[in-house]
Amino acid sequence: MMIFALTTELILAIRRFFPNLTLNKEMPMQLCVANHVGYRRRLHQPFRVKVYARRLEVGVGITYNNEGLMKTIEFIRQSHCQVLAEVGIAMGDTSEAFARHLNGRGQLHLFDYSEKVNCVQKRLESLGFTNIVSHGNSHRTYDSYNWNLMKLLQTHQQGIFDYVYLDGAHTWHHDALAFVLIDQLLKNGGFVEFDDYNWNHRRSSTVNPTICPATVEGFTEEQIDTHQVALVVDLLVKRDGRYKAIVKNRIYQKAD
Ligand SMILES: C[S@@+](CC[C@H](N)C(=O)[O-])C[C@H]1O[C@@H](n2cnc3c(N)ncnc32)[C@H](O)[C@@H]1O
Repeated sequence: MMIFALTTELILAIRRFFPNLTLNKEMPMQLCVANHVGYRRRLHQPFRVKVYARRLEVGVGITYNNEGLMKTIEFIRQSHCQVLAEVGIAMGDTSEAFARHLNGRGQLHLFDYSEKVNCVQKRLESLGFTNIVSHGNSHRTYDSYNWNLMKLLQTHQQGIFDYVYLDGAHTWHHDALAFVLIDQLLKNGGFVEFDDYNWNHRRSSTVNPTICPATVEGFTEEQIDTHQVALVVDLLVKRDGRYKAIVKNRIYQKAD
């Protein structure tokens, strides 16, 4: 955990000096950590840390999809959303764009592992943004952002979010429930955006079964090949008459 937090701090420090530096959006290692029980042990081994460092160098040449991010921010601007949530924040690049857009208005809720939300909250605070609400969870097998979404449900009878960006584990077992909870927490007329409709483990550069043993341990061959975010969107969102597509397979609006 300590090495993980230090690695995150190191990357953030490097990026302060090289603001244009971008990493593979899939965040090598982190999805492994996120998705798979048992991978944490490997993360702590020096070998894995070396792999991460090598990937960092390789990642320098890989560009982040800023066009997509810009479209998202433009959408939020046009739809006047002020209470935002990002479920799955990685290094906080999108979080920073959200915070810059809000510029102190409303709130930005961040969900991820505790060390990540703490790091990103610090990053945003150092930029002067104090309207950040962090919801960190542990790495325990059955813990996830869904627990913190549930806690918000306990304290709120009505929707609180104008917009939620779901970009977490990309698995049915996490994100089907995440959508059910987000739906409850979304205001009428609010928006939910899904990243990576077409993502699967097989084609992932970081968690494909040839390089990530935890994928083989954790998922069936069928699951490895399945676009699991698409399952959530196709089976839970599109079939729900209250939701209409704003951007097909990506942004959906809950009826007023
Ligand atoms: C694709 S990254 C998010 C990228 C980020 N939204 C961005 O645009 O830069 C997925 C994130 O989901 C988080 N995640 C996956 N499974 C999780 C879990 N069980 N609990 C908490 N966070 C999880 C990972 O830690 C990772 O930071």
